[in-house]
Amino acid sequence: MSTDLKRIAAEKAVARVESGMVLGLGTGSTAALAVEAIGRRLVAGELSGIVGIPTSTRTRDQAESLGIPLTTLEDHPVVDVTIDGADQVDPEGNLVKGGGGALLWEKIVAAATSLYVIVVDESKLVQRLGKGFPVPVEVMPFGWKTHLPAMRELGGEPELRSTDAGDPYVTDGGHYIIDVTFPEGLGDPEHADHVLLHRPGVVETGLFLGMAPEVIVGRPAAT
Ligand code: A5P
Repeated sequence: MSTDLKRIAAEKAVARVESGMVLGLGTGSTAALAVEAIGRRLVAGELSGIVGIPTSTRTRDQAESLGIPLTTLEDHPVVDVTIDGADQVDPEGNLVKGGGGALLWEKIVAAATSLYVIVVDESKLVQRLGKGFPVPVEVMPFGWKTHLPAMRELGGEPELRSTDAGDPYVTDGGHYIIDVTFPEGLGDPEHADHVLLHRPGVVETGLFLGMAPEVIVGRPAAT
């Protein structure tokens, strides 16, 4: 999606933010535009008394640079509104997230949120999760290879995420990510999620199921 469309969608989401709210600040290029818009509304005096909970160190750095006051889930365990992006959205509002590697903190914040707003472009709307974009699975480094057979049994093609230097990618939580592509998509995402989460050493999956987000889709203006 063009940055312009992302920005329009992000600003629509930020219009849901009111003074005094506790905000979950998502991660990724679309969420970054929302964080930017929150910063602008603060400077313009349209918002006051808000506090943000970043879902990654990247977002924390961005929010700090914009002067957005930050807090933690320890001090504010209930989040009013979280605005985040997604890698895939199915017709039921189930999501794949974690392309940017922040899925664990994103999911913890989402689960503590009253109004979960997801900002995407049309290209992220899919009939079936898992096809065309891998499902990231966050795992403990210890024993990460033990998960590969179970992932293949689910119909997936797993690959350890690595950095440009060829080292394993390490998340903010100190874990690895295994990206699992499902060439046929996931017929039963709940089952896959359940199987994966049941494995010792799997920390979290990028399947965000049943979270009932409000999905804002950036579309070109009708001509
Ligand atoms: C970050 O870990 C992800 O969950 C992002 O929300 C997702 O990858 C969407 O990112 P973009 O807005 O950059 O497409």
